[in-house]
Amino acid sequence: MSTLRLPGLVDAHVHLREPGYEYKEDFTTGTMAALAGGVTTVLDMPNTNPPTSTPARLADKARRAAAHAVCDVGLFVGATNTEGDAYLPVAPQACGLKIYVSDTFGSLRIDTLALMHRLFRTWATAADQHGYRMQGAEHGLGPITVHAEELMLPVCLALSQIYRVPLHIAHVSRRSEIELIRAAKERDIPVTCEVTPHHLFLSTADLPRLGARGDMRPRLATPDDVAALWENLDVVDIFATDHAPHTLAEKGIGVSEAPAAPPPGVPGLETMLPLLLTAAHAGRLTQEDIVARCADNPRRIYGLPAQPETWIEVDVDAEYELTDAALKTKVGWTPFAGQRVYGRVERVILRGVTVYAQGEVLATPGSGKVLFQESGD
Ligand code: DOR
Ligand code: ZN
Repeated sequence: MSTLRLPGLVDAHVHLREPGYEYKEDFTTGTMAALAGGVTTVLDMPNTNPPTSTPARLADKARRAAAHAVCDVGLFVGATNTEGDAYLPVAPQACGLKIYVSDTFGSLRIDTLALMHRLFRTWATAADQHGYRMQGAEHGLGPITVHAEELMLPVCLALSQIYRVPLHIAHVSRRSEIELIRAAKERDIPVTCEVTPHHLFLSTADLPRLGARGDMRPRLATPDDVAALWENLDVVDIFATDHAPHTLAEKGIGVSEAPAAPPPGVPGLETMLPLLLTAAHAGRLTQEDIVARCADNPRRIYGLPAQPETWIEVDVDAEYELTDAALKTKVGWTPFAGQRVYGRVERVILRGVTVYAQGEVLATPGSGKVLFQESGD
């Protein structure tokens, strides 16, 4: 067995579902899944019920995370059509602002240019006061992170360029998108982007096999789109899971009546690292590529504080099959079940304490930190 020591990973895109959808996931089970995947920091999305769109709701979510999480958690605020930029007074206490302009789960989709213009303008104005963490401001703002597919991508790039707002593109899935992001970076637009393991390792060719287990937004793309993500890996700043648990019953699996509108999304926290290490084993990636995109770059882009005495130990030679049964996520399934992988997380040490070892989470709920809560005090 050869043990590899890596920094604690950051997953910059997860949906831990609290409040409102605790039957799918909660801060304890979601962060347990994170530790099992070698992830010691997660950034949680705002499309909960109610959404994280006001100062009071961010404070409520921070209290829940502080009481229950077993790894560190940053919280996004989200814009809504009805509440607009009501989150602004607490912008420095969020890891970033999430804007949805494409089809998604939940009620957060923004519908008008007028509101989009306002959201970028007011985030830039708030940054005039606080600065951006990415540029070194201690109590500054994070980036605007967007779910912007297809023709909505250039809308967001233009607003980012006009207001000089750091823009992060979530889960890029298509050739057209990654190529446009490359061109935007070459022209000094302040843009970064992320790709999920499911868009790197699955395509429309897998849909007949996966059925509803392969339904997420963005949808699985064509094999040519997948090839484009691999060709343009140098443009990809972050690997993030978009861990989006829904129950198999909600997806219409194992139930007699097909649901009218099955929710899109797949869990991913526990399978990202073994999938990436398997690609490294096959020579498609290096360990440095993984550490840059799962630790260093997300820390820089979101201005995350260092986690002292924190690392993970991975048996890189362990070869095994991913199974639903081994998972800590409450929904207990993965689209990668049955796949053989290399690389098993053996131990996770967070701030000098062993919080995960040999398949068991040892941390107590509430031992994770909620990031950025002191800023603005
Ligand atoms: O597949 C997805 N699921 N895409 C999204 O944008 C949202 C997510 C969810 O929250 O379920
Ligand atoms: Zn998401």
